[in-house]
Formats: sequence, C-alpha cells, structure tokens
Amino acid sequence: MIDNYKLENGVNVPILGYGTWQIQNGEEVVQAVKQAIEVGYRHIDTAGVYGNEEGIGTAIKESKVKREELFIASKLSNDYRGYETTIKAFEETLEKLGLDYLDLYLIHWPAARGKKEECEKINIETWRAFEYLYKKGKIKAIGVSNFLAHHLKPIIENCEIKPMINQIEYHPGQMQKDIVEYCINNNIILEAWSPLGTGKMLENIKLQEIAKKYNKSVAQLCIKWCIQNKVIPITKTINKNRMLENIKVFDFEISKEDMQEINNIPYFAGSGLHPDEIDF
Ligand SMILES: NC(=O)c1ccc[n+]([C@@H]2O[C@H](COP(=O)([O-])OP(=O)(O)OC[C@H]3O[C@@H](n4cnc5c(N)ncnc54)[C@H](OP(=O)(O)O)[C@@H]3O)[C@@H](O)[C@H]2O)c1
Repeated sequence: MIDNYKLENGVNVPILGYGTWQIQNGEEVVQAVKQAIEVGYRHIDTAGVYGNEEGIGTAIKESKVKREELFIASKLSNDYRGYETTIKAFEETLEKLGLDYLDLYLIHWPAARGKKEECEKINIETWRAFEYLYKKGKIKAIGVSNFLAHHLKPIIENCEIKPMINQIEYHPGQMQKDIVEYCINNNIILEAWSPLGTGKMLENIKLQEIAKKYNKSVAQLCIKWCIQNKVIPITKTINKNRMLENIKVFDFEISKEDMQEINNIPYFAGSGLHPDEIDF
C-alpha cells in the first residue's frame, strides 16, 4: 500500500505515481495500466497530448480496483490554453477516459512565448477555467506542470485558488532548486517527471555505487531519493517486472549522507526542455 500526501482540501495524493508517456493507445496501454494497477500503483498520470486516454479508460474499467481507490491525473494540451478551450479539452479528456471526474488536472506547460503580458493573461484565463471545473466538482485537485516561479506568481496573485501541485522534471542531476524552494514556500506539492531521466540515470556510476550499498537498483534508488525529498516520482515502464521493482522502495531508507551525495550530483541528463523556450 502506497502512502498519501493530504492536500489542504483533504484530497489524498499517492506519493508514487505511474507515468504513461510514450505508451501506445490500444492494447499496449490497456495491458500496461492494468498491470500497474494490479501490482499496486494507484496514481496514474497521462496527458491529452499522449493520445492514450481511451486505452487508460479501458484499463480502469477492466481493473478490479474501485474508481474511488484510484487517483487519475491528466494534463491540458498546449493548443487548448484559454478559458472556453480548456473546458472543451477537459470534457474531451473525461469522455476519452470514460470518467465523470478527474482526481488531478494540470496545465501541461505554461504559455511562455510571445509578449510577457499576453502569456500571463493566457495562463490566468486557463487557470480560471480550472477553478470553474474544480468548483463544479469535476476535478478533485488542480495544478500545473513545468511552471517556474515567474509563471506561478501571477496566478497566485490574481486567482482565487492556488495551484495545488506542480509537476516538473526532477531527477539526480536536475533538481531545479529555485522552483522547488518556491513551491515548498507556497505549500505546492511537487511531482517529478522522468525520475529516471527516461532511463539515463541507470548509466550513472555514482548512482550505481550508492545503489549497490543498499542492494537496490539505480531505478529504486532514484525513486526513493525523490520520495525522501518529498517529491512524488511519476515513473514509467511497460515491463511488469520493472513495475514491481519500481514500487519496491518502501523497505529501505537512504542515509542522510547518501541523500546529500545524490543531491550534489552536478547537472546531468536533463531533457533540455526549458519552459520559456519550448516551441510546442
Ligand atoms: N509534465 C511533463 O511535461 C512530462 C514530461 C515527461 C514525462 N512526464 C510524465 O513522467 C512520466 C515518467 O517519465 P519518463 O517516461 O521519462 O520515465 P522514467 O521513469 O524517467 O524512465 C522511463 C524509462 O526507463 C525505463 N525503465 C523504467 N523502469 C526501469 C527499471 N526498473 N530498470 C530499467 N529501466 C527502467 C523504461 O523502459 P521500459 O518501459 O522499456 O521498461 C523507460 O525507457 C511519463 O511517463 C509521464 O507520465 C511528464
């Protein structure tokens, strides 16, 4: 059983999630998500842009776990930013998933190109639609992804409800200290995308040495490192044995010294995607 963080509104968020980026819609994602639920994951992360919400919906329906025991998260695609378009995209997402509510909906990336005022306006309008859907009870928790402090501030200053979660790229060698500190100070829970650096962490010699001490794999070490830093890892694999491996992280504790060693790993294997510079 995976523990939860409790948000200020009482919603429980499982502290380890299962990611579905790059898993094909259809049989691949249906089987993967069903297996993930079977081995114990309860927090499933997708996005409009992953194109696999229908398959995830099928997996949820076919799984033996009750809907209310699952935590289903999706993200608004960049093309749909704005008030009306957000509501439309959200309805499409719900329909594809075959659900009548989402546990978490995130703005996938901030509007950040073009004039500053224009971007702020778009992000605020998008967020107002999130607030509307939240108040209607269609979403249990609302948040953002890839937002830096200067994207979050205008929302916090101008809107009624503060973002509850920020999902950012986070793994050893990519700690994003500024935004992490900003979120902690503002009581915004952090989630880690690519906690294994999409697999690149596994090659790191330092991580291999530390993992060996605990008789754990580098994947398990990275996942536990996120959890001990109070960042929710969202990890992806289509392989059942690895699903089991990645969830078996609650039987060991990384020492303070080793946490520090991992924290000190210099910039390494980041995706290179900067929220102010992406062009999608
Ligand atoms: N918000 C955003 O902008 C954003 C961006 C990127 C990702 N995400 C989310 O974050 C999730 C995780 O990111 P990610 O997909 O880059 O995943 P990741 O968990 O960092 O790495 C996944 C890769 O590692 C492999 N892998 C997983 N567990 C392993 C293990 N125990 N041993 C060896 N290899 C292992 C997987 O291969 P196999 O599948 O072949 O096992 C896959 O190639 C995504 O699925 C998505 O939900 C969000």
